[in-house]
Amino acid sequence: MTKIAVVYYSAYGHTFDLAAAIEKGAQEAGAETRLRKVRDLVPEEVLRSNKGLAHGGEIQKDVKEAVLDDLTWADGIAFGTPTRFGNTTAQLRNFLDQTGPLWAKGALAGKVAAFFTGASTPHGGHETTILTLSTFAYHHGMLIMPMGYTITGSVDPYGPTYISGDGSRAVGEEEKRLAREFGSALARVAQKLAAR
Ligand SMILES: Cc1cc2nc3c(=O)[nH]c(=O)nc-3n(C[C@H](O)[C@H](O)[C@H](O)COP(=O)(O)O)c2cc1C
Repeated sequence: MTKIAVVYYSAYGHTFDLAAAIEKGAQEAGAETRLRKVRDLVPEEVLRSNKGLAHGGEIQKDVKEAVLDDLTWADGIAFGTPTRFGNTTAQLRNFLDQTGPLWAKGALAGKVAAFFTGASTPHGGHETTILTLSTFAYHHGMLIMPMGYTITGSVDPYGPTYISGDGSRAVGEEEKRLAREFGSALARVAQKLAAR
């Protein structure tokens, strides 16, 4: 069975919704999956005192925290983060910065890497976030799988995305559909490559 890990950070819950849609798509394609959030770096008192952050934490409370084994276990991995000033969150970067020992062993070489993100505004940094996030995968010798325009309705060739507006805009059904279909495609590609 193909193994797909979806490893992400989400403060308010939007990226979590997209991650869950990717996982669902991978399962629909027959993959075994692991949905994993990375450890937060925001102080506990801030997480509790901010309504939006408290809600984001609550809806993700049952998601397990990512560990390095989730990466070595998987044949394909989708990495997701909200945009922070056009770049990856410190939380996801912090997790990726712990993959040095895996890099030293070439443990992720040949695995499929895919990326997803979201931002407040349509041009708020979706592309720059995915492009800057993806460099770590080159160093690991991973095989980067973009979305291209291969899925009907795709508007983001780099990977699934959402627009959160002022935060009150939920991830849309069309954004979730694209993410789900991309998750299925990721599972199919990872299955072929795992058989090499
Ligand atoms: C420090 C910070 C920087 C941000 N930078 C951007 C940005 O450059 N462009 C943008 O459109 N949205 C930006 N946002 C909005 C986030 O991308 C948005 O809150 C996030 O996508 C919501 O995802 P989540 O619900 O998974 O946490 C920023 C938010 C924060 C807190």
